[in-house]
Amino acid sequence: MRILGIETSCDETGVAIYDEHQGLIADLLYSQVDLHREYGGVVPELASRDHIRKTLPMIEQALLDADSKPDDIEGIAYTAGPGLVGALLVGASIAKSLALAWNIPSLGIHHMEGHLLAARLTGNPPDYPFVALLVSGGHTQLLACEKQGQYEMLGESQDDAAGEAFDKVAKMLGLGYPGGPEIASQALKGNRGRFRFPRPMTNRPGLDFSFSGLKTFTLNTLADLDKVTDQDKADVAQAFQDAVVDTFRIKCERALEHTGLSNLVIAGGVSANLELRNTLDAMGRARGCNIFYPEPGLCTDNGAMIAYAGFERLRQGQKENLAIDVRPRWPMTSLAVN
Ligand code: KG4
Ligand code: ZN
Repeated sequence: MRILGIETSCDETGVAIYDEHQGLIADLLYSQVDLHREYGGVVPELASRDHIRKTLPMIEQALLDADSKPDDIEGIAYTAGPGLVGALLVGASIAKSLALAWNIPSLGIHHMEGHLLAARLTGNPPDYPFVALLVSGGHTQLLACEKQGQYEMLGESQDDAAGEAFDKVAKMLGLGYPGGPEIASQALKGNRGRFRFPRPMTNRPGLDFSFSGLKTFTLNTLADLDKVTDQDKADVAQAFQDAVVDTFRIKCERALEHTGLSNLVIAGGVSANLELRNTLDAMGRARGCNIFYPEPGLCTDNGAMIAYAGFERLRQGQKENLAIDVRPRWPMTSLAVN
């Protein structure tokens, strides 16, 4: 089975082809980051217009890369939500139109399920059941995953997502967008121990998160400095990153204890963070747990994860009609079980 995947939920156009036997045979990504940079964040209307420009030529190129003809494609998966409504509608409309033209099934995929399943696109895929920490620009969630589509919410952020907090703190420090990689590289130059930031919601039971207080704490720390030097920036970046990473370590450990599971999957853009990976790997070794991540290049948004999630669902015969229906808000706990 050969599946075309289309991701257009935010500011990246991703197109990929997943083949049951050969794996990923095309994987194209176009980032709109330059387009949005001058506005300091994603402008939804510009995002939609750019997806319209890019998606079809990228599909044409993906077919060439995969040495495939439309006849070889047996299904189309696209991101149906959550995300920006106009951006989602571009991918959905193109997917459904091609499904009609090529007479093949199409299926809307939950973006965060895509992120989660990207961890299965490696030589060492995690077996179900597992705990998942999904950390992206829009979501921060701990889930117990029984099988594809059967997800129990263990905890989530009460305010900002972790990636969003990285982006906002980067902005405070005058760093570029997206903020996560910028903070991570500044943190390498920081003096550990100069500042200690709080680990929000760790001194009470539960698996929820909150990052807005950490943002305010960062702002106050910067306001207390006379003049913010490059070293100050690096020290603050490191203290902030350490606080987020340590919070995740504490909550992941708690989730593993609570569920009695011994496999932990970390996915979403923030899972590219090396400090997070090193810290959770050490926790896994100490507890005798297995920790899984997507390949670094598949942590942030991409079409490959959508093609793969779609492959897993389409091969079980799931399909939908040609009505275009996207879900800007879509709880992960309401998905069809595969
Ligand atoms: O999953 P993703 O590409 O898009 C969403 O679904 O939101 O995640 C993007 C987020 C951004 O907030 C970005 O700053 C963050 O992931 N990110 C990182 C790193 N790379 C990307 N955060 C921390 N460390 C990184 N290395
Ligand atoms: Zn994402």
